[in-house]
Amino acid sequence: MSYSELREDFPTLRQEDAPAYLDNACVTLKPDSVIKSISDYYSMYPGCGGRSVHRYGTQVSRLVSNSRKSVADFINAKSVNEVVFSRNTTHSINQIAKGITWQPGDVIITGDREHNSNLVPWLQLAEEQGIEHIIVKSNEDNTFNLENFEQLCDDHGERLKMVSLSHVGNLDGIDIPIAKIAEITHRYDALIAVDGAQSAPHMNVDVQALDIDFLSFSIHKMCGPSGMGGLWGRYELLDELRSIQSGGQTVETAHYDSVKWAAPPARFEGGLGNFAGMIASGKAIEYLSELNMDDVHEHEIKLNAIITKRIKHLEPIEIIGPEDASKRGGICSILMGDLPSHDIALLLDEAAGVMVRSGQHCVHSWFNSRGIENGSLRASAYFYNTEEEAKLFADTFCEAVEAFS
Ligand SMILES: Cc1ncc(COP(=O)(O)O)c(C=O)c1O
Repeated sequence: MSYSELREDFPTLRQEDAPAYLDNACVTLKPDSVIKSISDYYSMYPGCGGRSVHRYGTQVSRLVSNSRKSVADFINAKSVNEVVFSRNTTHSINQIAKGITWQPGDVIITGDREHNSNLVPWLQLAEEQGIEHIIVKSNEDNTFNLENFEQLCDDHGERLKMVSLSHVGNLDGIDIPIAKIAEITHRYDALIAVDGAQSAPHMNVDVQALDIDFLSFSIHKMCGPSGMGGLWGRYELLDELRSIQSGGQTVETAHYDSVKWAAPPARFEGGLGNFAGMIASGKAIEYLSELNMDDVHEHEIKLNAIITKRIKHLEPIEIIGPEDASKRGGICSILMGDLPSHDIALLLDEAAGVMVRSGQHCVHSWFNSRGIENGSLRASAYFYNTEEEAKLFADTFCEAVEAFS
């Protein structure tokens, strides 16, 4: 099976004026099976899962539990009950950060290239609950500095309670050695939460092999519907976690003066669920499960290498991270000097149908610390992108840079 053949599964890519869609780090395209499952839910069994016992209700419950099983298998969770459907990675990280009881002075480590979703919740805890938020500094080329990390763990010893890091940065595509980081974190009896928004869609993520405690991910970046994400946690940890949204579904029973909380995952899925979204999430993950994720990763690196080779000589631009594309997965993020990155992104679409992202990609802290207001222009590939598309982006980009210089 070639990835080009899979393009036929995507209505957007079947269109005559199909774009060279290279904004996959933001959101991916959706295959027919995902779109159809949403329409099937609304047209054939638009009921409520987990509660009503009529035919619609039972059908929805069955499909949602199949979806949960598909997600659990995809990340190698021990049990389906470790998989919570959430709105997105942001929601999942907030559920972890705000579901744990902290003491003033507890130390939480994050990185210096985190998406706001893995920075702001911890900053909020520092502001509201007096936790100490510490940042581990990366190497010059943005790769992870294990020595700095170990030193920080050592410096804070027993006060270290949580390490929360993005597995792959949306800023630069660089992946960090999570298994090693988890091993070090556990030496200090702290927990490790992994922001898998940019890893789960693009590589094998096995939560047991990595020996992590929590994983947050965005199913809309995995061919799934908008507004759907996931949270995985080791069951005993989820079982200790407070729900940040309580109400219907989150309790086993309630009295006028007390509640008995439901077991995970129901405790974290308060209110009537996005059933179409949950069912379609299962279809998306089943679609990805047919692929070999190691090959997907290699394919993206190959496209990134093509782009890198064609643009790296250009002045005044600079690729963020190592020149070696194999260290940046499918992401090529380019500092533009004084060139107008939004205008160039617009021109790429208008002139050649190439869709990329420009701006600070919700990693404001990294750009602010360097005084770079212009942000970067980011091309991010997925398995359905072709070598021709990578070349088209690179060549049109070179022309645009020349025209604006
Ligand atoms: C690394 C990373 N973390 C978190 C997020 C937030 O994801 P969401 O918008 O789905 O909550 C993103 C989104 O781009 C991301 O790339």
